[in-house]
Amino acid sequence: MDCTGPLALLMALTVCAFSAVVQQWTELNEAQTYLRTYGYLSNHGDAQDPSYLEEVIEALRVFQRVNDLPLTGEIDEATLQVMRQPRCGMKDPFNQKLHKFRVLGYWRKRSLTYRIYNYTPDMKKTVTKMAIRSAFKYWSDVTPLSFREVEHGRADIKISFHKKDGYCSVPFDGRGHVLAHAEPPQSGIVHFDDDEYWTEGVYYGTNLRIIAAHEIGHALGLGHSHYSTALMAPVYTGYRANFRLHPDDVQGIQALYGERKPSNSVNSTASYNPLPTDSSSETQNIPDPCNATLDAIMLGPWRKTFAFSGDYVWTISDLGYSTPIRIDRLWKGLPGHLSAAVYSQRTNKTYFFKGNKVWKYTSFGLEYGYPKQVKRIPANIDAALYLEKNKKLVFIKGSDHWQWDELKYNDLSGYPKPLSLLFSRVPPSPDAAFTWTNGKVFFFKGDEYWRVNKQLSVDRGYPLSKRERWMQC
Ligand SMILES: *[C@@H]1O[C@H](CO)[C@@H](O)[C@H](O)[C@H]1NC(C)=O
Ligand SMILES: *[C@@H]1O[C@H](CO)[C@@H](O)[C@H](O)[C@H]1NC(C)=O
Ligand SMILES: *[C@@H]1O[C@H](CO)[C@@H](O)[C@H](O)[C@H]1NC(C)=O
Repeated sequence: MDCTGPLALLMALTVCAFSAVVQQWTELNEAQTYLRTYGYLSNHGDAQDPSYLEEVIEALRVFQRVNDLPLTGEIDEATLQVMRQPRCGMKDPFNQKLHKFRVLGYWRKRSLTYRIYNYTPDMKKTVTKMAIRSAFKYWSDVTPLSFREVEHGRADIKISFHKKDGYCSVPFDGRGHVLAHAEPPQSGIVHFDDDEYWTEGVYYGTNLRIIAAHEIGHALGLGHSHYSTALMAPVYTGYRANFRLHPDDVQGIQALYGERKPSNSVNSTASYNPLPTDSSSETQNIPDPCNATLDAIMLGPWRKTFAFSGDYVWTISDLGYSTPIRIDRLWKGLPGHLSAAVYSQRTNKTYFFKGNKVWKYTSFGLEYGYPKQVKRIPANIDAALYLEKNKKLVFIKGSDHWQWDELKYNDLSGYPKPLSLLFSRVPPSPDAAFTWTNGKVFFFKGDEYWRVNKQLSVDRGYPLSKRERWMQC
């Protein structure tokens, strides 16, 4: 008899061994308390009432989905482990549905001040100041917001450390579990649990910079993200040396405050490269297939593998790569620096994406009316591929995906969906992706590539080097 399934929970008292039952009820209580504390479960109920148990199981599934766990709806070891990890004290208001960005509020002004009221004994004052300043910088780098520290008087964002004491109406819980909490605009409160051991730049302790960046995210109005690798994910995943914001964090904050205006020195207008005027600049821009970053890759006409980088395209075979030639020598009218390319094995059409436009070719001839504007998926997608399983085209941007049937009207209101719902363990924001002659899907990013099996999960041993395996350099 299986002592772990949801049905088993109902029958546990009568059938399973006594000690296993006691452990199950303890774990059920622990899980219920967690789900209620962090907003997954609203009702109290009797665990022997099947309809209440159904709510618990549904809440578990939501918790498992946002934490990239198998959707068992059961209190398994993996689920309990995540529940016991250190985390932020704010609720995860996912409530059964995955809303894109949970907006808690926002500041009307763009120049904000902050004040550090007291310091942790764990770190030097200057190191603490630096960590907090870096935490603000993650957000000011991608928005028009600016932050200035003040030593006295009223500040918009108020930072302090306290313990399990009466300092704050929400006391902390001692060492571990809840690390910090914050309040949304216009409060601006950011508190760190001083029973933690705060550190910066090392793998032990709790990293102040990353936790501060997360709590400042709340203080700026962002709720928790349902991407487990985002900064705004509720669970702290530890110190990372090259920590960066996840695309979901960037999109979330930019939805509130807009993008950072490019400075004059940065040419950020993604315009089509004009034709080179002399042959020397032409040869300079020819990519080296050994180290070029791919813009797109596809299994195209003649069942050949085409790799695109800049203004050039080359083919890849068992013998390695061909000499790159200009893209518009094969596809007339097609610009370089593509966002994505996909060839449909179903209709034999080729689609190229760049910025907010799409080009559709039959063999090498541009179809009438193209290029067209892309309206129902975002501009600048990262990759596109043909999925043999359901004969659909899949578009990827960041950690999101859209599926599109070429021969039907597509209701895309259910999209975007997390990329991880379709493929497990593939990287977000890939450079390129495609389905190859062996029916397997490959993802490329930098020099790394991942092979996905028929169950749409990355095979063991990946990523490997694109340079060595594909280009045979
Ligand atoms: C930006 O880049 C485009 C295309 O490469 C070029 O035509 C334009 O002159 C550049 N602008 C500046 C300010 O450098
Ligand atoms: C690629 O390799 C070539 C030749 O070794 C080199 O000149 C070029 O700078 C490299 N490009 C990149 C992006 O590393
Ligand atoms: C696509 O091309 C293949 C090979 O040339 C051909 O057998 C098939 O009938 C074509 N399908 C369509 C829908 O044109």
